[in-house]
Amino acid sequence: MSFKQRHAQTLEYTNQLLAQALAHYPTLPCELLPAMQYALLSQGKRVRPLFIAILGETLNIDNTRLAPLMVAIECIHAYSLVHDDLPDMDNDDLRRGQPTCHIQFNPGTAILVGDALQSLAFEHIASASVLTDREKVSVIQVLAKAAGYDGMCGGQAIDLHFTDAAIDLATLTQLHALKTGALLSACVDMVIALAPDLALADIEHLQTFSRNLGLAFQVQDDILDVTSDSQTLGKPSGSDQEQNKSTFPALLGLQASQDYLTLLYTESLQSSDHLPYNTSPLNQFAEYLVQRRY
Ligand code: IPE
Ligand code: IPE
Ligand code: MG
Ligand code: MG
Ligand code: MG
Repeated sequence: MSFKQRHAQTLEYTNQLLAQALAHYPTLPCELLPAMQYALLSQGKRVRPLFIAILGETLNIDNTRLAPLMVAIECIHAYSLVHDDLPDMDNDDLRRGQPTCHIQFNPGTAILVGDALQSLAFEHIASASVLTDREKVSVIQVLAKAAGYDGMCGGQAIDLHFTDAAIDLATLTQLHALKTGALLSACVDMVIALAPDLALADIEHLQTFSRNLGLAFQVQDDILDVTSDSQTLGKPSGSDQEQNKSTFPALLGLQASQDYLTLLYTESLQSSDHLPYNTSPLNQFAEYLVQRRY
Protein backbone atom coordinates (compact mmCIF):
# COMPACT_ATOMS: atom_id res chain seq x y z
CA MET A 1 0.00 0.00 0.00
CA SER A 2 1.34 3.46 -0.87
CA PHE A 3 1.71 6.07 1.85
CA LYS A 4 -1.13 8.03 0.28
CA GLN A 5 -3.45 5.03 0.49
CA ARG A 6 -2.31 4.38 4.04
CA HIS A 7 -3.13 7.95 5.00
CA ALA A 8 -6.55 7.83 3.31
CA GLN A 9 -7.39 4.56 5.04
CA THR A 10 -6.36 5.79 8.50
CA LEU A 11 -8.15 9.08 7.96
CA GLU A 12 -11.37 7.21 7.17
CA TYR A 13 -10.91 4.89 10.17
CA THR A 14 -10.20 7.87 12.46
CA ASN A 15 -13.29 9.70 11.25
CA GLN A 16 -15.40 6.65 12.12
CA LEU A 17 -13.84 6.43 15.58
CA LEU A 18 -14.42 10.13 16.22
CA ALA A 19 -18.06 9.93 15.13
CA GLN A 20 -18.54 6.92 17.45
CA ALA A 21 -16.90 8.79 20.32
CA LEU A 22 -19.56 11.50 20.12
CA ALA A 23 -22.43 9.13 19.41
CA HIS A 24 -23.06 8.20 23.05
CA TYR A 25 -23.92 11.74 24.09
CA PRO A 26 -27.63 12.47 24.43
CA THR A 27 -28.87 15.66 22.86
CA LEU A 28 -29.00 18.66 25.20
CA PRO A 29 -31.28 21.67 24.73
CA CYS A 30 -28.37 23.74 23.38
CA GLU A 31 -25.88 23.82 20.52
CA LEU A 32 -22.96 22.15 22.30
CA LEU A 33 -23.11 18.74 20.63
CA PRO A 34 -23.63 20.07 17.07
CA ALA A 35 -20.76 22.47 17.67
CA MET A 36 -18.52 19.64 18.93
CA GLN A 37 -19.43 17.58 15.85
CA TYR A 38 -18.71 20.60 13.68
CA ALA A 39 -15.23 21.04 15.16
CA LEU A 40 -14.21 17.42 15.59
CA LEU A 41 -15.67 15.80 12.46
CA SER A 42 -14.57 18.50 10.00
CA GLN A 43 -11.91 17.74 7.42
CA GLY A 44 -8.64 17.59 9.32
CA LYS A 45 -5.67 15.67 8.02
CA ARG A 46 -5.67 13.43 11.14
CA VAL A 47 -1.89 13.59 11.20
CA ARG A 48 -1.58 12.69 14.89
CA PRO A 49 -3.82 9.58 14.72
CA LEU A 50 -1.88 8.57 11.60
CA PHE A 51 1.40 8.92 13.52
CA ILE A 52 -0.01 6.71 16.30
CA ALA A 53 -1.15 4.10 13.76
CA ILE A 54 2.27 4.06 12.09
CA LEU A 55 4.10 3.86 15.43
CA GLY A 56 1.82 1.00 16.44
CA GLU A 57 2.52 -0.83 13.20
CA THR A 58 6.26 -0.27 13.67
CA LEU A 59 6.18 -1.65 17.22
CA ASN A 60 3.66 -4.38 16.39
CA ILE A 61 0.87 -3.18 18.67
CA ASP A 62 -2.66 -4.33 18.05
CA ASN A 63 -4.72 -1.77 16.12
CA THR A 64 -7.73 -1.95 18.43
CA ARG A 65 -5.53 -0.95 21.38
CA LEU A 66 -4.39 2.15 19.50
CA ALA A 67 -7.90 3.38 18.74
CA PRO A 68 -8.54 5.15 22.10
CA LEU A 69 -5.20 6.96 21.76
CA MET A 70 -6.06 8.08 18.24
CA VAL A 71 -9.41 9.47 19.36
CA ALA A 72 -7.98 11.19 22.43
CA ILE A 73 -5.14 12.97 20.65
CA GLU A 74 -7.45 14.24 17.91
CA CYS A 75 -9.94 15.52 20.53
CA ILE A 76 -7.17 17.50 22.22
CA HIS A 77 -5.90 18.77 18.87
CA ALA A 78 -9.39 19.80 17.68
CA TYR A 79 -9.99 21.61 20.98
CA SER A 80 -6.66 23.42 20.58
CA LEU A 81 -7.69 24.62 17.11
CA VAL A 82 -11.11 25.87 18.28
CA HIS A 83 -9.50 27.89 21.06
CA ASP A 84 -6.57 28.99 18.84
CA ASP A 85 -9.03 30.61 16.43
CA LEU A 86 -10.98 32.54 19.09
CA PRO A 87 -11.12 36.35 18.90
CA ASP A 88 -8.86 36.70 21.94
CA MET A 89 -6.28 34.33 20.44
CA ASP A 90 -5.61 34.29 16.67
CA ASN A 91 -9.01 35.73 15.75
CA ASP A 92 -9.31 33.66 12.57
CA ASP A 93 -12.55 33.04 10.71
CA LEU A 94 -11.66 30.03 8.52
CA ARG A 95 -10.64 26.53 9.61
CA ARG A 96 -10.56 23.33 7.58
CA GLY A 97 -12.26 25.17 4.74
CA GLN A 98 -15.26 26.31 6.75
CA PRO A 99 -16.13 29.11 9.18
CA THR A 100 -14.36 28.69 12.52
CA CYS A 101 -16.42 27.30 15.39
CA HIS A 102 -16.95 30.68 17.06
CA ILE A 103 -18.13 32.19 13.77
CA GLN A 104 -20.48 29.33 12.94
CA PHE A 105 -21.81 29.23 16.52
CA ASN A 106 -20.55 31.88 18.97
CA PRO A 107 -17.40 32.45 21.09
CA GLY A 108 -18.99 31.18 24.29
CA THR A 109 -20.04 27.94 22.64
CA ALA A 110 -16.59 27.60 21.04
CA ILE A 111 -14.92 27.90 24.46
CA LEU A 112 -17.21 25.17 25.80
CA VAL A 113 -16.57 22.98 22.73
CA GLY A 114 -12.87 23.10 23.54
CA ASP A 115 -13.50 22.33 27.20
CA ALA A 116 -15.81 19.42 26.40
CA LEU A 117 -13.49 17.96 23.75
CA GLN A 118 -10.64 18.05 26.22
CA SER A 119 -12.76 16.18 28.79
CA LEU A 120 -13.86 13.71 26.14
CA ALA A 121 -10.23 12.84 25.38
CA PHE A 122 -9.62 11.71 28.96
CA GLU A 123 -13.06 10.15 29.39
CA HIS A 124 -12.41 8.12 26.27
CA ILE A 125 -9.08 6.73 27.51
CA ALA A 126 -10.44 6.05 30.99
CA SER A 127 -13.36 4.08 29.49
CA ALA A 128 -11.30 2.02 27.04
CA SER A 129 -11.79 -1.69 27.76
CA VAL A 130 -8.82 -2.61 25.54
CA LEU A 131 -6.34 -0.92 27.90
CA THR A 132 -5.25 -2.07 31.35
CA ASP A 133 -5.68 0.32 34.27
CA ARG A 134 -1.91 0.79 34.42
CA GLU A 135 -1.79 1.66 30.71
CA LYS A 136 -4.67 4.10 31.11
CA VAL A 137 -2.89 5.96 33.90
CA SER A 138 0.32 6.20 31.85
CA VAL A 139 -1.49 7.36 28.72
CA ILE A 140 -3.56 9.92 30.64
CA GLN A 141 -0.45 11.24 32.37
CA VAL A 142 1.40 11.66 29.05
CA LEU A 143 -1.53 13.34 27.34
CA ALA A 144 -2.39 15.64 30.24
CA LYS A 145 1.21 16.85 30.44
CA ALA A 146 1.46 17.39 26.68
CA ALA A 147 -1.83 19.29 26.55
CA GLY A 148 -1.22 21.49 29.58
CA TYR A 149 1.29 23.90 31.05
CA ASP A 150 4.31 21.81 30.05
CA GLY A 151 2.98 21.42 26.53
CA MET A 152 0.39 22.92 24.21
CA CYS A 153 -1.13 25.47 26.62
CA GLY A 154 2.29 26.65 27.74
CA GLY A 155 3.31 27.08 24.09
CA GLN A 156 0.13 28.94 23.25
CA ALA A 157 0.73 31.26 26.20
CA ILE A 158 4.27 32.02 24.98
CA ASP A 159 2.77 32.57 21.50
CA LEU A 160 0.38 35.17 22.93
CA HIS A 161 3.12 36.78 24.98
CA PHE A 162 5.34 37.21 21.91
CA THR A 163 2.62 38.38 19.53
CA ASP A 164 3.66 41.87 18.51
CA ALA A 165 6.84 41.51 20.58
CA ALA A 166 10.45 40.66 19.74
CA ILE A 167 11.52 37.05 20.32
CA ASP A 168 14.90 35.29 20.20
CA LEU A 169 15.57 32.00 18.43
CA ALA A 170 15.77 29.88 21.59
CA THR A 171 12.41 31.16 22.85
CA LEU A 172 10.77 30.73 19.45
CA THR A 173 12.05 27.16 19.32
CA GLN A 174 10.63 26.54 22.79
CA LEU A 175 7.30 28.10 21.76
CA HIS A 176 6.99 25.80 18.74
CA ALA A 177 8.20 22.71 20.56
CA LEU A 178 5.52 23.26 23.19
CA LYS A 179 2.50 24.49 21.25
CA THR A 180 2.82 21.89 18.47
CA GLY A 181 5.72 19.55 19.20
CA ALA A 182 4.33 18.36 22.53
CA LEU A 183 1.25 16.69 21.01
CA LEU A 184 3.36 14.92 18.38
CA SER A 185 5.75 13.75 21.07
CA ALA A 186 2.76 12.58 23.10
CA CYS A 187 1.88 10.22 20.21
CA VAL A 188 5.23 8.48 20.73
CA ASP A 189 5.04 8.48 24.53
CA MET A 190 1.47 7.15 24.59
CA VAL A 191 2.33 4.31 22.21
CA ILE A 192 5.45 3.55 24.25
CA ALA A 193 3.18 3.15 27.28
CA LEU A 194 1.59 0.20 25.45
CA ALA A 195 4.98 -1.37 24.64
CA PRO A 196 6.55 -2.20 28.02
CA ASP A 197 9.43 -4.25 26.64
CA LEU A 198 10.85 -1.54 24.40
CA ALA A 199 14.61 -0.98 24.82
CA LEU A 200 15.65 2.34 26.34
CA ALA A 201 17.79 3.19 23.31
CA ASP A 202 14.81 2.67 20.98
CA ILE A 203 12.63 4.87 23.18
CA GLU A 204 15.21 7.63 22.95
CA HIS A 205 15.49 7.37 19.16
CA LEU A 206 11.72 7.51 18.79
CA GLN A 207 11.55 10.53 21.09
CA THR A 208 14.26 12.35 19.16
CA PHE A 209 12.45 11.49 15.92
CA SER A 210 9.19 13.00 17.18
CA ARG A 211 10.87 16.01 18.79
CA ASN A 212 12.50 17.03 15.51
CA LEU A 213 9.39 16.25 13.53
CA GLY A 214 7.10 18.18 15.88
CA LEU A 215 9.23 21.26 15.51
CA ALA A 216 9.45 20.71 11.75
CA PHE A 217 5.66 20.49 11.58
CA GLN A 218 5.22 23.97 13.04
CA VAL A 219 8.06 25.44 10.98
CA GLN A 220 6.30 24.15 7.87
CA ASP A 221 2.98 25.56 9.17
CA ASP A 222 4.70 28.96 9.52
CA ILE A 223 6.17 28.68 6.02
CA LEU A 224 2.82 27.72 4.48
CA ASP A 225 1.19 30.75 6.13
CA VAL A 226 3.54 32.88 4.00
CA THR A 227 3.77 30.85 0.79
CA SER A 228 0.31 29.33 0.33
CA ASP A 229 -3.21 30.66 -0.12
CA SER A 230 -6.33 30.40 2.04
CA GLN A 231 -8.14 28.17 -0.46
CA THR A 232 -5.36 25.56 -0.36
CA LEU A 233 -4.79 25.84 3.38
CA GLY A 234 -8.46 25.88 4.39
CA LYS A 235 -7.44 28.60 6.88
CA PRO A 236 -6.45 32.23 6.33
CA SER A 237 -2.99 32.59 4.79
CA GLY A 238 -1.00 35.61 5.90
CA SER A 239 -2.68 35.46 9.31
CA ASP A 240 0.64 35.34 11.17
CA GLN A 241 2.04 38.41 9.45
CA GLU A 242 -1.21 40.31 9.85
CA GLN A 243 -1.10 39.78 13.60
CA ASN A 244 2.65 40.18 13.89
CA LYS A 245 3.10 36.65 15.24
CA SER A 246 6.50 35.32 16.20
CA THR A 247 7.26 32.73 13.50
CA PHE A 248 10.34 31.24 11.85
CA PRO A 249 9.90 33.15 8.55
CA ALA A 250 9.38 36.38 10.53
CA LEU A 251 12.56 35.85 12.56
CA LEU A 252 14.88 34.13 10.06
CA GLY A 253 13.36 34.81 6.65
CA LEU A 254 11.85 32.25 4.28
CA GLN A 255 15.02 30.64 2.93
CA ALA A 256 16.62 30.11 6.34
CA SER A 257 13.32 28.68 7.61
CA GLN A 258 13.24 26.24 4.71
CA ASP A 259 16.86 25.27 5.40
CA TYR A 260 16.04 24.72 9.06
CA LEU A 261 13.05 22.56 8.07
CA THR A 262 15.34 20.41 5.91
CA LEU A 263 17.81 20.11 8.78
CA LEU A 264 15.09 18.98 11.21
CA TYR A 265 13.82 16.46 8.66
CA THR A 266 17.34 15.08 8.10
CA GLU A 267 17.88 14.80 11.84
CA SER A 268 14.60 12.96 12.32
CA LEU A 269 15.64 10.43 9.66
CA GLN A 270 18.99 10.00 11.38
CA SER A 271 17.26 8.94 14.60
CA SER A 272 14.86 6.52 12.89
CA ASP A 273 17.90 5.00 11.14
CA HIS A 274 19.04 3.63 14.50
CA LEU A 275 15.82 1.71 15.11
CA PRO A 276 15.87 -2.06 14.64
CA TYR A 277 12.53 -2.07 12.75
CA ASN A 278 11.20 -1.44 9.30
CA THR A 279 11.25 2.34 9.56
CA SER A 280 10.07 3.14 6.06
CA PRO A 281 6.47 3.99 7.18
CA LEU A 282 7.89 6.39 9.81
CA ASN A 283 10.21 7.93 7.25
CA GLN A 284 7.40 8.33 4.72
CA PHE A 285 5.34 10.01 7.41
CA ALA A 286 8.20 12.44 8.12
CA GLU A 287 8.55 13.18 4.41
CA TYR A 288 4.81 13.81 4.11
CA LEU A 289 4.84 16.25 7.06
CA VAL A 290 7.62 18.42 5.69
CA GLN A 291 6.41 18.32 2.08
CA ARG A 292 2.73 18.86 2.75
CA ARG A 293 1.06 21.77 0.96
CA TYR A 294 -1.69 22.33 3.58
C1 IPE B 1 -2.66 22.89 12.52
O1 IPE B 1 -2.58 21.50 12.67
C2 IPE B 1 -2.17 23.54 13.75
C3 IPE B 1 -0.81 23.21 14.12
C4 IPE B 1 -0.52 22.68 15.25
C5 IPE B 1 0.27 23.50 13.19
P1 IPE B 1 -2.90 20.55 11.43
O2 IPE B 1 -2.15 21.02 10.23
O3 IPE B 1 -2.67 19.15 11.85
O4 IPE B 1 -4.44 20.82 11.20
P2 IPE B 1 -5.61 19.86 10.70
O5 IPE B 1 -5.95 18.98 11.85
O6 IPE B 1 -5.15 19.09 9.52
O7 IPE B 1 -6.73 20.79 10.38
C1 IPE C 1 -1.39 26.57 16.46
O1 IPE C 1 -0.42 27.31 15.85
C2 IPE C 1 -0.92 25.66 17.45
C3 IPE C 1 -2.00 25.13 18.25
C4 IPE C 1 -1.76 24.69 19.44
C5 IPE C 1 -3.38 25.07 17.76
P1 IPE C 1 -1.03 28.23 14.71
O2 IPE C 1 -1.87 29.30 15.29
O3 IPE C 1 0.04 28.60 13.77
O4 IPE C 1 -1.99 27.17 13.96
P2 IPE C 1 -2.89 27.55 12.72
O5 IPE C 1 -1.97 28.08 11.65
O6 IPE C 1 -3.89 28.56 13.19
O7 IPE C 1 -3.50 26.24 12.31
MG1 MG D 1 -2.00 30.32 17.06
MG1 MG E 1 -3.78 30.01 14.56
MG1 MG F 1 -0.11 28.64 11.71
